Amino acid sequence: ASDIDKDLTEILVTEEQILTRLREMAEEIERDYEGKDLLVVGVLKGAVMVMADLARSFSRHVEMDWMAVSSYGSGTKSSGVVRILKDLDTDISNRHVLIVEDIIDTGLTLTWLVSNLQSRKPASVEICTAFRKPDAAKMAVPVKYIGFDIPDEFVVGYGLDFAEKYRNLRCVATLAPHVYS
Ligand code: PRP
Ligand code: MN
Ligand code: MG
Repeated sequence: ASDIDKDLTEILVTEEQILTRLREMAEEIERDYEGKDLLVVGVLKGAVMVMADLARSFSRHVEMDWMAVSSYGSGTKSSGVVRILKDLDTDISNRHVLIVEDIIDTGLTLTWLVSNLQSRKPASVEICTAFRKPDAAKMAVPVKYIGFDIPDEFVVGYGLDFAEKYRNLRCVATLAPHVYS
C-alpha cells in the first residue's frame, strides 16, 4: 500500500462516481442557465478539484472566479469564524453567480458566504457542492446542486484536507484514527 493508503480506512466515493455525478450536474446547470451569462465562483482551496472537473464538463462558456475563505484552520472542528483570505476579482452586481464548493459540513461557511455575496446585488446566487454531511448541519443551507450526501465522519480527498494534506486524492475516503488522534 502507498503512504496515503495507510492513512485511509474506507473509500466512500470513487473517482468514477464523482466524475459521473459531476457530468450529470453540469448538464442540469446548463439547462437551468440556458441563455444566461454564468459566473462560477470556486471556494479555495477545497473546491479546486470540483471546479476543474465541473467546468470542463460544460459545453458552454462560463466565467470562473475564486474566493478564498477559511473556517477550519488546521483542526478537524469548524470554528464558525470565516475569514476572507482572497476576495473576488469580479464585480458580481447583476450577474448570475453559482458558488462551487467541495463540501457542506456545518453549513457555516456557505451561510456566511451567500449573505456576503447577496449584499453585492447579484442577479442570482445558487450553490453547487460535491458533498454534504446532513448529520453535521448547524445551519440549513439552500443547495441547488448536490453531488453526494455522506456520513458525518472525517473524510479527505478530492479537495478535502486534513491539515492541508490529502487534497490530491482522486476519491473521497475516511481518514484512519491514527492520523488525527
Ligand atoms: C472546508 C470545506 C468547506 C467548509 C465546509 O473549508 O472546503 O469550504 O470547510 O465546512 P462548514 O460547512 O462547516 O463551514 P476549509 O475552511 O477547511 O478551507 P479549505 O477549503 O482551504 O480546506
Ligand atoms: Mn473550503
Ligand atoms: Mg480545510
